[in-house]
Amino acid sequence: MSKNYHEVFEKSAGWLAIGTVLAISFGTLVEITPLLFLKETTEPVDGLKPYTALQLEGRDIYIREGCVNCHSQMIRPFRHEVERYGHYSVAGESVWEHPFLWGSKRTGPDLARVGGRYSDDWHYAHLINPRDVVPQSNMPGFPWLATNTLDGELTPKKMEIMNKLTKGKMPANDEDGVMYSAEEIAAATESVKGKTEMQALIAYLQSLGTALK
Ligand code: HEC
Repeated sequence: MSKNYHEVFEKSAGWLAIGTVLAISFGTLVEITPLLFLKETTEPVDGLKPYTALQLEGRDIYIREGCVNCHSQMIRPFRHEVERYGHYSVAGESVWEHPFLWGSKRTGPDLARVGGRYSDDWHYAHLINPRDVVPQSNMPGFPWLATNTLDGELTPKKMEIMNKLTKGKMPANDEDGVMYSAEEIAAATESVKGKTEMQALIAYLQSLGTALK
C-alpha cells in the first residue's frame, strides 16, 4: 500500500509538485507560527523608548536619503559581529519598527547600535563630508541636511499613525496604552519646527540600539 503512494509521487510530475508545495507550506507554518505568539518576538525589550518627535522625523530622512541601501541595522549573533558592533540585535528591539530598516546591504558598517558611539559634532562633520573625518570613506555627503529645516506640519499625523501601527504592542505598565499621548502629539509641531533635517537625523542616529547597550 505505502509502496503505491510513493509511486504516485515518483511517476507524476503534477502530484510531485503538489506534494512539494504542501511539505514546504507545512514546514513554513511550523517555523513561523510560534514567532507570532512568543513574548520575545512580540513585546518590546525593557527600556525601549518610543522615538521622540524629532527622532521620528530623522528616521524619515534616513529613509528618504536611502541610507538603508548601504547600511544594515541588524547585528547577527556571530562573534566577529558582536565584537565589532555590540550585542546582537533581538526581535524585541524591532517590534515598533514600521517599516523595519534591517537592510540587506553593508557598503558601510551596521548602524543598529551606532547611538552614542560618536558625538553629535562627529556625525555633523561626517554627514556634511565623510572624508573630513574618515579619509578613505566612499560614503556620499549630505550637506543639504544642514540647511533644510522642518516645518513639523505632518509630525502629529506621523505620531498618530505610529499609535495605530503599535496598538497592542506597548508594555503592560504603560498607562494609556498608546505610544504617543494626546499632549505629546499636540506639542509635536512646535518641538520640531525650525530644527534642521541634520539635527533630526543625528537625534535618530544617536537613539539607535541604546535600549540594550
Ligand atoms: C553609498 C553608500 C552609503 C550611503 C548611501 C550612506 N553611507 Fe554611511 N557609510 C558608508 C561607508 C562606506 C561608511 C564607512 C566609512 C565612513 O565612516 O565614512 C559609512 C559610515 C557611516 C557611519 C559611521 C558608522 C561607524 O560605525 O563608524 C554612519 C553613522 C553613517 N555612515 C550614516 C549614514 C547615514 C545617516 C546615511 C544616509 C543619510 C548614510 N550613512 C548613507 C556608506 C554609505
